[in-house]
Amino acid sequence: MVEGKWTLGLESTAHTLSFGLVDPNGIPYASKSASVRPDEGGIHPRKAAEHHSEHVGRILQEILETQDLTIQDIGLMAFSQGPGLAPCLRAGAAAARSVASLRNIPLIGVNHCVAHIEIGRQQCGCVDPVLLYASGGNTQIIARLEGRYRVLGETLDIGIGNMLDKFARVHGIPFPGGPVIEKLANNWVEEHPDCSLVDYSLPYVVQGMDLAFSGLLTAAVNMVSRGAPLEAVCWSLQEHAFAACIEVAERALAHTGKDELLLGGGVACNERLRNMSEIMCQERGGKSFVPAKMYCIDNGTMIARLGWLEWQSGRETSIIESGINQNLRTDDTPIVWA
Ligand code: ATP
Ligand code: FE2
Repeated sequence: MVEGKWTLGLESTAHTLSFGLVDPNGIPYASKSASVRPDEGGIHPRKAAEHHSEHVGRILQEILETQDLTIQDIGLMAFSQGPGLAPCLRAGAAAARSVASLRNIPLIGVNHCVAHIEIGRQQCGCVDPVLLYASGGNTQIIARLEGRYRVLGETLDIGIGNMLDKFARVHGIPFPGGPVIEKLANNWVEEHPDCSLVDYSLPYVVQGMDLAFSGLLTAAVNMVSRGAPLEAVCWSLQEHAFAACIEVAERALAHTGKDELLLGGGVACNERLRNMSEIMCQERGGKSFVPAKMYCIDNGTMIARLGWLEWQSGRETSIIESGINQNLRTDDTPIVWA
């Protein structure tokens, strides 16, 4: 990368196409994004990929305009190499290769999950946290040990965000369902401050360090179909699912002896999850960190930031190595940066 140039990051693992920038010193700037919002059903991978290809030129132009840059100011092209939906990843990788070839600048493919962690560390200034990565497709409790982000515990079935989105979809709430469930849950608590969870009890699944959400989803759907108010079930669903995540995160803090907990991924936008994390950390003399919401959801800036970090440590992705890896895992990526 040429001295004084910016890093451009391209995110396209699933529903969101996003470009983000970090400046020549690795300082992040807000992303520009376009997301698929299906009218009904879940995300169709091919349709999402078509959406990304269609909007890539416009979003690229918009992101450059935010900082008054031209494509000549870009010195490194970072993209999400995995994990994610293959057609979406391919659309992003193709666009990234084009920019890199056109400008004759280096290309760097990064791990999307690790990018969620690194933008959180940069934004919150925490040093060696346990991370609760709670997104649509992923729910993992992670810690940096011996040169990798190790997965200490994770969901054994679906991601917590997918669980919330599916529950929402069954009740006619469009994607993404998480924020709407949060609003409905808040309404319920405001109107029923003395309500007891015993009246809306759902399965609570923690297996050692692992979690599971599909049984919880089924039980919650059944509870509504038996006549329980939707708002009450949204509240109970959040309480059960988040408490399970926080319990495993607490155990990870205890096992590793670390005292910082960092939240990341789209579900970390949820105020109740943030609040539970805060309470748990306070009780054990630790500290809870949460990045701004725009850096919890999928964003191009986190990809630019990790690309910049890896580049500083001497990594580069050749065109031949730039194929996507839809099954890339958090612990597949060696940590070569500080
Ligand atoms: P990954 O590839 O990392 O699994 P993702 O593709 O699911 O990421 P993210 O943007 O990280 O994308 O997360 C999206 C998820 O976050 C959706 O499931 C959405 O419902 C959920 N979400 C967003 N805001 C909230 C909120 N306020 N409360 C609960 N869930 C939320
Ligand atoms: Fe994500």
